Amino acid sequence: MAHFAHARVDLDAIAYNARLLRERAGGAALMGVVKADGYGHGMLPAARALLAGGATWLGTAFIREALGLRAAGITAPVLAWIIPPGEPVGEAVENGVDLGVSDAAVLEAVLGAARSLGRTARVQLKIDTGLNRGGIGHSEWGSLVEAAARAEEAGHLKVSGIWSHFACADEPGHPSIAAQLSVFHDALETADKVGLTPEVRHIANSAALLTLPEAHFDLVRGGIASYGLSPIPDLDVPGLRPAMTLRARVALTKRVPPGSGVSYGHRYVTDRETTLALVPLGYADGVPRAATNRGPVLLGGRGRVIAGTVCMDQFVVDVGDDEVAAGEYAVLFGDPDAHPGAPSAQDWAGVLDTIPYEIVTRVGVRVPREYVGGA
Ligand SMILES: Cc1ncc(COP(=O)(O)O)c(C=O)c1O
Repeated sequence: MAHFAHARVDLDAIAYNARLLRERAGGAALMGVVKADGYGHGMLPAARALLAGGATWLGTAFIREALGLRAAGITAPVLAWIIPPGEPVGEAVENGVDLGVSDAAVLEAVLGAARSLGRTARVQLKIDTGLNRGGIGHSEWGSLVEAAARAEEAGHLKVSGIWSHFACADEPGHPSIAAQLSVFHDALETADKVGLTPEVRHIANSAALLTLPEAHFDLVRGGIASYGLSPIPDLDVPGLRPAMTLRARVALTKRVPPGSGVSYGHRYVTDRETTLALVPLGYADGVPRAATNRGPVLLGGRGRVIAGTVCMDQFVVDVGDDEVAAGEYAVLFGDPDAHPGAPSAQDWAGVLDTIPYEIVTRVGVRVPREYVGGA
């Protein structure tokens, strides 16, 4: 039985985006970033589609996500990069997951696991080039690479990668970009001097992939663009295909007189006799409550705006005198090329003063993902 609301995910679009990003990356390989349940699209189907499109690496934030890929039989190289204390590094080593190492304590933990398992761990050392988030600080980089080189000589680990992450790649020309690249080059030189020979050096996210060829190195990490969304609001990326469409069938419609307050708090009041349509998606499903009186929706062939407060499970649209019936689809966002007039995730981000990443990743567990393509 078809569910009344779903996030339709076009796996062919994801594979197609991967091919396009590979072309844009020149000679660099593509890592498909599938953390946070594949940016809300479903980690496993997204991963398979990205690999089918030519990604040769996958990236996750956490080890458990990477182990989920392995448990599903995905054997491609995977990097997991946030490793709080107590994480199952041993399981990661056993399953051939590359571990992002941002400090000496994590290196020790990985080494301990590798020794006790009698395995060679694969680690990717992360230098903080200026984001001041993950990664080891420049002043400690020298001792980290020396410790890693010693462990490599002893056969306990292989430094498979050296990498970093930009703070402002989505603002091309921002002075921090050149500064971070320069620190990254220094860090690579230091690693080279102690004899490390990483398979991959990487710093580019989607924004740098699309705007900064000098940041491509051996590998680019494509997250949001893999799902067809531009990392930069006013950067049009010809050919990218938004993979997710969020839509729901109208549950009921009703005529109301002028002056009717609508939804909690009566934050919307009708100015004429009109038809209200109830859409059964709410903030529990990822429609932010901040979209009250602001969220764009395509319904009955026209773009409209949510009327009144977004509730936990539903919101209302004022459709005027248009013929809209229960059972018709309201499209919240999707690919405007596939659904003419449909808002995009970027349109939602724009009215809510956020980024499309937040729009797609917050679609809730109550909304089934319906997959198309991907044969
Ligand atoms: C370390 C790292 N690399 C790459 C990405 C992918 O970024 P984007 O989705 O902008 O391509 C992320 C996502 O936030 C990240 O945290």
